[in-house]
Amino acid sequence: MGIMDFSAGPLCCLWLLAFSATSVDAVGPSDTAVLRGGSATLTCSNPAHTSTDSGLAFWAESGTPFGTHGGIYTGTAFAKYTNFGIVSNEFPQMDLTVSNTQVEDEGTYICSMTVEQGSATLTVEIEGNEPTITLNSDPSVTPIRLTAREPSVLRCTASSFRPAVNLEWYKDDVKITAGITEDTPTPNGDTFTTSGTWTFTPNIPDDGDRLECRTTGQVVATAKTGGLTLNVQYVPDVTVGYSGGQITCSSDANPLATTHQIIRNGTDILKTFTNSPGYVVFTPKYCAEISCNATNTIGTGTGTFAQQICPGRST
Ligand SMILES: *[C@@H]1O[C@H](CO)[C@@H](O)[C@H](O)[C@H]1NC(C)=O
Ligand SMILES: *[C@@H]1O[C@H](CO)[C@@H](O)[C@H](O)[C@H]1NC(C)=O
Repeated sequence: MGIMDFSAGPLCCLWLLAFSATSVDAVGPSDTAVLRGGSATLTCSNPAHTSTDSGLAFWAESGTPFGTHGGIYTGTAFAKYTNFGIVSNEFPQMDLTVSNTQVEDEGTYICSMTVEQGSATLTVEIEGNEPTITLNSDPSVTPIRLTAREPSVLRCTASSFRPAVNLEWYKDDVKITAGITEDTPTPNGDTFTTSGTWTFTPNIPDDGDRLECRTTGQVVATAKTGGLTLNVQYVPDVTVGYSGGQITCSSDANPLATTHQIIRNGTDILKTFTNSPGYVVFTPKYCAEISCNATNTIGTGTGTFAQQICPGRST
């Protein structure tokens, strides 16, 4: 077994090396992306092409040659290529250069050298805007506030990208896969807008998490990210305590509760206060059930002390 591995390994790799060396030596070029306004070079070389006497060498598009060692052909038919150039003084290389690239410069370009040919696509990218996240309602509401346990739909919109981007959603840097949709990108001149939604039912622990929408699919343009901090609102969660002859009521809520009531036997209001926590001294004459109501804009939450508080009990 060991001997077989030993002999198979080198055989495999030598063969791969020879194979890849052959591919590299063949005529280039490879697909290239460039930011609009930038410069691009499509390489082309063939070891057999050592001089102009080695055979025909030219760059072509859609079957029509537009330049050779002497440079880009002149004439109105070649107006597209005015910002193109051919580097022809470094045999066996004959690269195609494009400066100040524009969307019109996109295309599939073929390099032909002696008897070999290679082709590559030039893609011009446009860096779009930071995506925006909105509540998928009509009209969208800002700032975005969600309510715990209520299904919500958020929409991410990324505009002015070329080529059209795809969107990825992340919550606290963890990629979201459930509840995601993406619309077909819509063209607008040379660029595209991509929009998609995330449908989810937020819960209290989601409050404060970072939600991001990131663009993907461009090669040279910098990916863009839009984001927001989730604001998940919920009915107050109320805690009632009794210690040292004192009742304590506190609430956890978003937004904060603005009214609290400490209640005896469901109806007698012992104390009303604004901000959590609040206290009232309580010495029962008979057993009593103590609860506390806390109210915010979402609703009223109730907490009840676990046992009845009876005379003689102070903790
Ligand atoms: C409060 O409730 C307790 C338990 O139900 C009861 O024993 C007590 O009499 C009640 N007090 C009043 C004032 O209704
Ligand atoms: C306390 O809140 C509960 C739940 O909203 C409500 O049913 C009850 O009437 C409130 N009690 C008082 C005294 O307001």
